[in-house]
Amino acid sequence: MNDYTIPQHWAHYSATDHAVWKTLFERQTALLPQLACREFVEGMRALPLSAEAIPDFAALNEVLMPRTGWQVVAVPGLVPDEVFFNHLANRRFPSGNFIRRADQLDYLQEPDVFHDVFGHVPMLMHPVMADFIQLYGEAGLRAQRIGKLTELARVYWYTVEFGLVTELVPGEAGIQEALRIYGAGIASSFTESGFAVQSPSPHRIGFDLERVMRTRYRIDDFQECYFVLDSLDDLLALARIDFDPVYERLNSGPTYTPADVLATDRVFQQGDGSYARSRLPVAA
Ligand SMILES: [Fe+2]
Repeated sequence: MNDYTIPQHWAHYSATDHAVWKTLFERQTALLPQLACREFVEGMRALPLSAEAIPDFAALNEVLMPRTGWQVVAVPGLVPDEVFFNHLANRRFPSGNFIRRADQLDYLQEPDVFHDVFGHVPMLMHPVMADFIQLYGEAGLRAQRIGKLTELARVYWYTVEFGLVTELVPGEAGIQEALRIYGAGIASSFTESGFAVQSPSPHRIGFDLERVMRTRYRIDDFQECYFVLDSLDDLLALARIDFDPVYERLNSGPTYTPADVLATDRVFQQGDGSYARSRLPVAA
């Protein structure tokens, strides 16, 4: 099977490409220590990432591989699902080798090297996320064979891409619980980083597997709903779940929109929907 990998061609990046990286990198490294979870910030700092240049994947892998057995491989853009899952199942994280243009800093159609490397690789330094994403890759291959990819993809979306986690942090009234970012889709976005944690608009709801697998998501705008883990360790239990009985239950019952809040939800914050209402309605 063609695995879609290509050489990164690091020497081909232009001065403009590196300058775009620098802008994105400086914004996020200033912002995330206050908004991202401890594990993300530690991973970000332990990797050979700097404002000066787009990272060389070979240098990244020298640090990443000994830590969790993962490596970053270059691909030209989005790859077919089966190829993607096969990489993940083998602890290879496919990263777009291109970078967005300077006039696209906050908008991306396809994941680029900033999203894929800066957003994802810090969490791949964490053993729990390292195991979770590998097992997700295996689950993805199976879900594809049995026609359950839509439901499974919602798990990835609401964890690896847009997950929040609670963390104890020092506050004015002593140690308090705060919501922190671990999802790459948020962590690589300047505007969504603040939105996800601080905006009154979106819901923040306790993570529940079946609830998440019944919830559609938006790919074209900020999320209207984020799901919150109590601890990153919860991902390990999630990865070990036998999905077959869950898929069975999902064959009947409702599907939810991101705007829904259920009586059974563990609600951290009920959003007021103000941002979503200010946007054109788009089918979720
Ligand atoms: Fe991603």
